[in-house]
Amino acid sequence: MPDSLHPRLEAWLRYADDLGLGPFYRDRVAATQQQMEIVGSIAAASAVSPAGPSSRAVSTPANEFRNFVSGDSMPPAKPAPAPIIVPPSGASLFEEKIENDSLERIRTDIGPACTRCKLHQGRTNIVFGVGNLKAELVFVGEGPGRDEDEQGEPFVGRAGKLLTQMIEAMGLQRSDVYICNVVKCRPPENRLPEKDEIETCSPYLLRQLEVIRPKVICCLGACSAQTLLNTTQGISRFRGEFFDFRGARLMATYHPAYLLRNPNAKGDVWKDLQKIMALLGLQAPKKK
Ligand code: URA
Repeated sequence: MPDSLHPRLEAWLRYADDLGLGPFYRDRVAATQQQMEIVGSIAAASAVSPAGPSSRAVSTPANEFRNFVSGDSMPPAKPAPAPIIVPPSGASLFEEKIENDSLERIRTDIGPACTRCKLHQGRTNIVFGVGNLKAELVFVGEGPGRDEDEQGEPFVGRAGKLLTQMIEAMGLQRSDVYICNVVKCRPPENRLPEKDEIETCSPYLLRQLEVIRPKVICCLGACSAQTLLNTTQGISRFRGEFFDFRGARLMATYHPAYLLRNPNAKGDVWKDLQKIMALLGLQAPKKK
């Protein structure tokens, strides 16, 4: 296949993943079926349904994100929950606990010039993470893009601006939450992080989550959700449901970059964020 087709094919596959249609070939699979165990349906096994605000988009939005959402007629129908595959209890990507761990120590362990995986070759800055060290809510993306690589901060590009709007629609500021990614270095051409890169870098993400100990982890997009839940299922099968994750509640929702390409999905994401707000006792700000 000509090189020029790779980014387009990758983008198409990512789109299909977002819709829950993939994976289409085995290399994109993060773990083999044999390593996994079906433990029941998403809803039955670990989902909670907090008595949250109405799932209809609000009619008086307080900011651009909610303005946009309220413009939607009907959000797309969600497929019925399907069984999710999660690792057998006790198994995890990160088995050992580090005594007195801290974000600074994790940053030091990664080092200023990490070469553990091939992503270092095209990187300008390692994008560690940013925000409140005691955040109740952590957002986990996939990996830095061009703007993030240049600035050394996650979610500062177009998708990042949308994430900021989403956070503010929840009645929070960026500085209230913590934001990080599965991989800390930019994949070339914004391709999906590969299995070996995720395996190399995700232990640092797990340590970050262990140190911050948020109440809620919100996975943005399939990559972070599939990594933390150790599943290959498409995100549309389980987005919007809560899972137990090491003492936290974990929910996956669509990635802001996906929303930029598919604005109709913003209604679904707003519903997901409202469930998180209900769990954290947050109120949407009044319209100014
Ligand atoms: N997309 C991500 O997943 N993470 C970023 O930091 C920016 C864009």
